Amino acid sequence: MSRDLLTVVLAAGKGTRMRSTQPKVLHRIAGRSMLGHVLALATAAPGGGKLAVVVGPDMDGVRKEALAAPGAAVYVQENQAGTADAVLAAREAIGAHEGDLLVLFADTPLITPETVGKLLVELERGAQVAVLGFEARDPGSYGRLITAPDGTLAAIREAKDASSSEREIRLCNSGVMAFRLDAPLDVLGKIGNANAKGEFYLTDAIEIVRAQGGKAAVVRCDEEEVLGVNARQELAAAEAIWQRRARERAMAEGVTLIAPETVWFAFDTVLGRDVIIEPNVFFGPGVTVGEGAEIKANCHLEGARVGAGARVGPFARLRPGAVLGRDVHVGNFVEVKNVSMADGAKANHLSYLGDGSVGAKANIGAGTIFCNYDGFFKHATEIGEGAFVGSNSALVAPIKIGAGAYVGSGSVITKDVAADALALERSSQEERPGWALKFRTMMARRKAALGR
Ligand code: UD1
Ligand code: MG
Repeated sequence: MSRDLLTVVLAAGKGTRMRSTQPKVLHRIAGRSMLGHVLALATAAPGGGKLAVVVGPDMDGVRKEALAAPGAAVYVQENQAGTADAVLAAREAIGAHEGDLLVLFADTPLITPETVGKLLVELERGAQVAVLGFEARDPGSYGRLITAPDGTLAAIREAKDASSSEREIRLCNSGVMAFRLDAPLDVLGKIGNANAKGEFYLTDAIEIVRAQGGKAAVVRCDEEEVLGVNARQELAAAEAIWQRRARERAMAEGVTLIAPETVWFAFDTVLGRDVIIEPNVFFGPGVTVGEGAEIKANCHLEGARVGAGARVGPFARLRPGAVLGRDVHVGNFVEVKNVSMADGAKANHLSYLGDGSVGAKANIGAGTIFCNYDGFFKHATEIGEGAFVGSNSALVAPIKIGAGAYVGSGSVITKDVAADALALERSSQEERPGWALKFRTMMARRKAALGR
């Protein structure tokens, strides 16, 4: 029977190797912080929900992000005295909890809920502690998993404390551990710091549990899944792995990616069936694309909803609040921000649509600008159903163009236009018959007289 789970997320590390003014765990993968990924994992884990996040002193950004997760409490580890000390910073939560305990590192963002599930299964099967391990290509500074002849885990040896034969072991500790203990605080309290680093190692819990007659199990996963991020290179490597998984998932769910390796998703991108995505498309957070829509090459989308059957791009930019209805067309070099475009509306070329609404089947001509900002405030442009805005028009907001109205090309519209009216704002055209012919003849003569 699965029990309640308390997840302790360790996020107190400063991450000096990132060379950043931000704490390491706030750096983003697919538009979400590493901490955010790990909190989402913790929330998704079976029996998950209770969360204790351990942060360092003066990490307000980390604290804020942690508190945004449902059910999370934050604890401060004053001095970074090791992973066991970090877990003990959440002593209060652990003491008050009845059930299993899961420890995750906030800088290890690619672990899946399925893998965590496997650790919990080991607890169900009678282990008091289960550790997530992997075969490392280069075991380097990872802790080594020392197995007993019966396949259970005998101990974890940190690289700095390992003998040369132990250092040969390639099965390594990912850092993820699950515990089912009657008195977890007693076990953690027994951990000392008599080791090469003088730190309190959480990994020492294995031998303590075994000495009490408990069983320790190992669950294996791919190295890729437990990639820890310490520097920007690893951040990029984690991003690449995340993106590869997302592309595979999208295709498996019925999305066509012409050049998958050039499409970048956010953690929350939602794509309908039969969506086609051409090369070089970037999704920021908060994008939903409806069934059968096409995102043509070189588009940037963020915080936008694209309706079924819509066509976006090539070279379009959808910013937060762009809401495109069914079969809407947004073409090349069109930027849409905080504008909803109703079904069948079109803005095919070279436009800025910011703040407002476009009615169904309205047509926005090339070079139309919604002049939404007066230097102090933003104002709305409302375009009625079936309206036609001629090319190179500037619509100075706040402004309303009535349903079915026409705006003549090149107009600067500053007053509302009634439904079905034509609004023109430009000087009227003058024509002088034969003028060009006379002009050419005169100039040609003048040139000849000068002998050139
Ligand atoms: C740890 C493991 C090692 C494992 C490796 C996997 C221990 C003793 N060692 O080593 O077996 O192979 O991770 O990456 O557990 N943290 C705190 N407070 C502290 C120390 C650490 O919050 O005082 C946090 C860090 O922010 C990080 C995590 O704990 O998220 C791991 O700490 P780190 O110093 O990176 O441990 P490693 O030496 O990599
Ligand atoms: Mg580490």
